[in-house]
Amino acid sequence: MNNRSEFSSKLGFVLAAAGSAVGLGNIWRFPYLAAKYGGGLFVLIYILFVVTFGFTVMMVEIAIGRKTKLSPIGAYRALNKKFGFIGIIASLVAYLILPYYSVIGGWVIKYFVTFLTGGAAATAEDGFFVNFISAPIQPIFWQSIFVLLTFAVVLRGVKDGIEKASKILMPVLVVLSLGVAFYSFSLPGAMEGVKYFLIPDFSRFSIQAVLAALGQMFYSLSLAMGVMITYGSYLSKNDDLEKSVKQIEFFDAGIAILAGFMVIPAVFAFSGGNEEALNAGPGLMFVTLPKVFNTMGMSSVIGGVFFLLVLFAALTSAISLMEAAVSTVCDQFKLSRTKSAVIIAITSIVLGIPSSLGNGIWSGFKVLNMAFLDLMDFITNAVFMPVGALLTCIFVGYVIGTKVITDEIKSSSAFKREKVFTVMIKYIAPICIIAILISSILSAFGLIVL
Ligand code: TRP
Repeated sequence: MNNRSEFSSKLGFVLAAAGSAVGLGNIWRFPYLAAKYGGGLFVLIYILFVVTFGFTVMMVEIAIGRKTKLSPIGAYRALNKKFGFIGIIASLVAYLILPYYSVIGGWVIKYFVTFLTGGAAATAEDGFFVNFISAPIQPIFWQSIFVLLTFAVVLRGVKDGIEKASKILMPVLVVLSLGVAFYSFSLPGAMEGVKYFLIPDFSRFSIQAVLAALGQMFYSLSLAMGVMITYGSYLSKNDDLEKSVKQIEFFDAGIAILAGFMVIPAVFAFSGGNEEALNAGPGLMFVTLPKVFNTMGMSSVIGGVFFLLVLFAALTSAISLMEAAVSTVCDQFKLSRTKSAVIIAITSIVLGIPSSLGNGIWSGFKVLNMAFLDLMDFITNAVFMPVGALLTCIFVGYVIGTKVITDEIKSSSAFKREKVFTVMIKYIAPICIIAILISSILSAFGLIVL
């Protein structure tokens, strides 16, 4: 495997991995979770998890990728013949996320195009969102466009496709995010929102908030899905892993917090500080925000810019998901990149169709009271992700031993947090992951409320 592609620089790798991490999770999910679980308190718990737990698992995955220079299935197998199945789970999860992630990506393109073509007022009307996502054909059309955009980048390979796209999209994303956040700050009444978002209210502490922060941390850092292993396999043997991971985490948490600054003060200003408006949950971005923009003036510009930045964030994440699947197909079936990419793109479009129709003509089909898209989200993130993460911790802590990983890390730089790392991976991480797994399954069966 000496001819495996590599990122041309550490910066290229960090931007690509940060691109994977920064996605709908940061901009769409983080603000509504923070709003729901006590603002600053949630942010604080979240950051604590990112720097301890997230740090550990991300170090492991990138080190496994770089050590073996293989995509997930081959990588686990190379470390221990019996454990290739962890790689299979991880790759399958990435492959299953891509279709429904693309459905939401398609919604984002639709909103962007609508704002661009002077439809700002229409997006603020009651029923716009529901009417759109329940239509049979249109959302599938936008979803396909989203997959094709992703495909166009992945087709060009690691250096010319993924790295180049990340080097353009990520800096633009940061600039646009700062712009929208400043706009949101400038609105009358926004300061109350900023305070709510930043000042921890310890009276709102709950186990649910802790579990939600933990789940969000995994999701947001794209962990346990083979993606970081795949990107790690393209990383040069000389690059400092610890520094890279810190930078990726800083990027990810930074954009999540900026997203909170974009959304929460604007919604506060709009609703006059009424917390109920913030509890819109998943609809916060597609339903509440357009209404907010519409009342604030300059709605076409701000709305357009906002959905463009969300689109960039979603695209770089989808690129990493597609790349994980494509590199697995290339390695396992010895196919060319082009053939693998065509297969993955076409099947992703087809597999996404039920997730799209589940919001409309197939809405009668429900499992555990979830529509198809929510069901896919649940199976991948609430079940397979923790299972994959737990298996990885056990594998590293007790099967191959932490030394294999720490040696790989130390082959290119000193490992300052080695002790924390070892304790985390062997003891603390597995317990926390089991807690997420049990709680999300109990909540799906309605036994607890999360
Ligand atoms: N991290 C992405 C986000 O915040 C979502 C995600 C979860 C993801 N797992 C992934 C993206 C795996 C790419 C690969 O939106």
